[in-house]
Amino acid sequence: MKIALGVSGGIAAYKAAEIVRQFEERGVSVQVVMTGAAQEFVRPLTFAALSAEKVICDLFGSGAAEPNLESAVEHIRVAQSIDALVVAPATADILAKFALGLADDFLTTLFLATTAPVVVAPAMNVNMWNHPATQANVEILRKRGVRLVEPESGYLACGMSGPGRLAESEAIVAAALQAMGASQALGGETILISAGPTREKIDPVRYLTNRSSGRMGYALAEAALRQGARVLLVTGPTAVSPPAAAEITRVESADEMREAMIKLLPQATMVIKSAAVSDYRPRRAAAQKMKRAGAISLDLEPTPDILSAIAKHKAGRIVVGFAAETENALENARKKLSAKGLDAIVVNDVSQKGIGFDSDRNAVTIITDDEVIEVPESTKWEVAQRVLDYMAKLRKRRAVKVSHGPCA
Ligand SMILES: Cc1cc2nc3c(=O)[nH]c(=O)nc-3n(C[C@H](O)[C@H](O)[C@H](O)COP(=O)(O)O)c2cc1C
Repeated sequence: MKIALGVSGGIAAYKAAEIVRQFEERGVSVQVVMTGAAQEFVRPLTFAALSAEKVICDLFGSGAAEPNLESAVEHIRVAQSIDALVVAPATADILAKFALGLADDFLTTLFLATTAPVVVAPAMNVNMWNHPATQANVEILRKRGVRLVEPESGYLACGMSGPGRLAESEAIVAAALQAMGASQALGGETILISAGPTREKIDPVRYLTNRSSGRMGYALAEAALRQGARVLLVTGPTAVSPPAAAEITRVESADEMREAMIKLLPQATMVIKSAAVSDYRPRRAAAQKMKRAGAISLDLEPTPDILSAIAKHKAGRIVVGFAAETENALENARKKLSAKGLDAIVVNDVSQKGIGFDSDRNAVTIITDDEVIEVPESTKWEVAQRVLDYMAKLRKRRAVKVSHGPCA
């Protein structure tokens, strides 16, 4: 998900830095666009550092040695690439320009060029806010579908009191996420997710592993972040980048993964075990690189069962496991569900070509005590959403049960 954050020239411009941080924390990338006046209040460098993106400061790219076609149509590229345009703080001036359809700088041009939802958070002196011209402009924008995050009442920087103070950054971010259709159903949850393969050492240069790419676990982590959860991600070695907003613990072996999961468990309210943990490891890893000398056998022993260890300390947590099967998928998954006391198990039949391991696509069945939910072949991102939607539903159901439970 990506948004453009328009920063216009008011005292509250510095508060936009916190808004950038909060979006990034939820895995939403931010392209900051500043008006000329905004740059009088805050330096673009602040936003460049926070968003790790070049800040757009003007329409004609002045300062660029050779304007090229790419920079010439940047307002269209940005307009088409964003999921929402958020303007915070929005000055009286920018509201007027938006209402009139003026397009004399990058932000106003972007406003006209984008079809993504627009969220504005005005901030100004109380008389400027109450002025009939500003109120009429706000009304026009509202009627055209622009979402308004109302300014708050209070003491203003100009020394006056009344409505005009920029709304809290949490409220602005929540309004933007809602406008983008991202539910915040997992707000307040801390989800511990394991992802990727493990490596079990044979000698200093060789190991046993599997084809897990980590993509399914990372998609779950990213989807959970966007639904407002805090994510603790324990990952084996992968070639893809985990979502930056997750709190990441990197591990190699099944032993290390178990240790990390057990250590983090007390902080978690939900657990998803999507890692492909090796079932076996060499009983003893050779201290030196093994030389070729005819046929050899590896003496393997089972690795610790992480899911059972977690199930033992389950308490009120919702725990979901993943099972990769190549035969009797549903039957085996049901056994695992009851043996390990899970709330749900997500089964993927990895014998099917083009899905599952090392692929962007997956098709799964979510099995619970009383439900079987088929998720047909789709992207791992969509599968992640379905799994998290189910977990949010389960949480709601339990909350209802608790509140209507018998009095002891
Ligand atoms: C010190 C100072 C503070 C200002 N604060 C605000 C403000 O909070 N809200 C506002 O609407 N305008 C404020 N203005 C006026 C705007 O900066 C001015 O209208 C400017 O043209 C806005 O340009 P922009 O909408 O392109 O960013 C302030 C001006 C100054 C000099």
